[in-house]
Amino acid sequence: MRSFLFIPGDSPKKLDKGMTSGADALLLDLEDSIAPQSKAGARDTTVAFLKEARTARSRPRLFVRINGLATGLTDHDLDAVVAAAPDGIMFPKAEGGAAVIHCDAKISAREAIAGLPDGALDIIAIATETAQALFLAGTYAGSSKRLKGLTWGAEDLSVEFGAEANRDRDGHFLAPYQLARSLCLAGAAAAQVQAIDTVYVDFRNEAGLRRECEEARRDGFTGKMAIHPAQVAVINEVFTPTAEAIKRAEAVIAAFAADPFAGTVGIAGVMYDRPHLERARQLLARAKANTPEH
Ligand code: COA
Ligand code: MG
Repeated sequence: MRSFLFIPGDSPKKLDKGMTSGADALLLDLEDSIAPQSKAGARDTTVAFLKEARTARSRPRLFVRINGLATGLTDHDLDAVVAAAPDGIMFPKAEGGAAVIHCDAKISAREAIAGLPDGALDIIAIATETAQALFLAGTYAGSSKRLKGLTWGAEDLSVEFGAEANRDRDGHFLAPYQLARSLCLAGAAAAQVQAIDTVYVDFRNEAGLRRECEEARRDGFTGKMAIHPAQVAVINEVFTPTAEAIKRAEAVIAAFAADPFAGTVGIAGVMYDRPHLERARQLLARAKANTPEH
């Protein structure tokens, strides 16, 4: 999945619009975009939308962002949404693998009650929203089979730090948030799950979004979250492997296939070793997952 579009879970109009946005996944939000007095209503709206949307023939994957464990709302959210069978849960303010295990157990109980297959719902965790979470970014490996991705956020973290800003005048993240971004990337790689880049909030600035997408892809992120439908096309474009990248990956795989005992091969004057082979396979798998018949 390349693009993950956030939609406030209390807006039927935006929820409908998300279905034709071109996003690979929708993040139906019950957390930060919903005022405290609207939480119950947003749950109802989200559940009604899910029941309808999941039966659509061709649709994005549907995730619900629930409220974090410290809010006292997690159980109410899961009681409502698991039975509506979304594809997964986005788990905010995660503090390491132990918190994911906790979330997994809560989902498992509801899956059983709803008669869903065990493990039907995935988890994507937001891994950098508290100061403590930064120190636990390396603990996600093996926490849950549900865990499919890690992402990061700078907004809640800057509030926690008491910071005045999280980006400089040119829109680049300041050092504390670059650390959070790097920890997300390393944590995801250690847990062998997808690393998903954070939102770009300046949603009319396409050039800025494109730059951030390209920097994220360069560093190993394979997708990015969006807050506005206009951001989806750029994200999909940048995170879709290019024909040239696919050709290069196929050449690496072919070279190793031709010599199964080789540890390294040379192609056009460049050395490739086994990690390059693994990376080439991952790239082709992503390219295949993005073709329309999937
Ligand atoms: N998902 C689906 N549809 C969206 C959307 C979203 N995230 N954001 C905007 N739209 C729709 C609008 O409803 C509007 O529809 P219309 O043309 O049928 O009237 C259209 O896209 C154009 O929207 P626009 O007028 O450019 O923006 P806006 O001022 O209506 O909305 C935001 C701006 C930021 C409030 C809105 O993009 C939004 O709610 N984003 C998601 C916020 C969120 O979930 N945050 C939590 C994670 S950080
Ligand atoms: Mg938040």
